[in-house]
Amino acid sequence: MAIRQIRTQGDPVLNKVCKEVKEVTERTKELIGDMFDTMYEANGVGLAAPQVGILKRIAVIDVTGEDPVVLINPKIIETDGEQTGYEGCLSVPGVSGKVTRPNHVKVVYLDEEFNEQEIEGTELLARALCHEIEHLDGHMYTERVIGDLVDNSELVEKSEASEEDDADADEEE
Ligand code: NI
Repeated sequence: MAIRQIRTQGDPVLNKVCKEVKEVTERTKELIGDMFDTMYEANGVGLAAPQVGILKRIAVIDVTGEDPVVLINPKIIETDGEQTGYEGCLSVPGVSGKVTRPNHVKVVYLDEEFNEQEIEGTELLARALCHEIEHLDGHMYTERVIGDLVDNSELVEKSEASEEDDADADEEE
């Protein structure tokens, strides 16, 4: 496994619609392993294949550091409620922005054995699922940001100053 280069905003690969995965080959498994390595190395909680330059509908998520999930051809089938909070992206390093997302989502996807699975998430997991799935359609969270992007160092100060701030400054997806 290996660390791959993370593409950053402005790279056209991030704005393309990814292709459905038809089969899981050895190369696909290698890609998935590399995506986890790359995500953990960058202290992220999620990474989508286009962020490493691959236009396939694959994302990896681990919001606790102990719950790795591989999502192949994921689709959101249910959403509920609302949450507004700071969100970041490994392709937009160093900054975060306030985004409103559903507070609960249900997603169907294929696992690495191509079995259909369902995952439900609330709060950070719901946010990460929405964020990663949008990457597969060429969308970035920056399109949804309320107000300005803030520097992560400022965000830490802000959240220390205000208990109301739901800051996830170091959780980039
Ligand atoms: Ni992202």
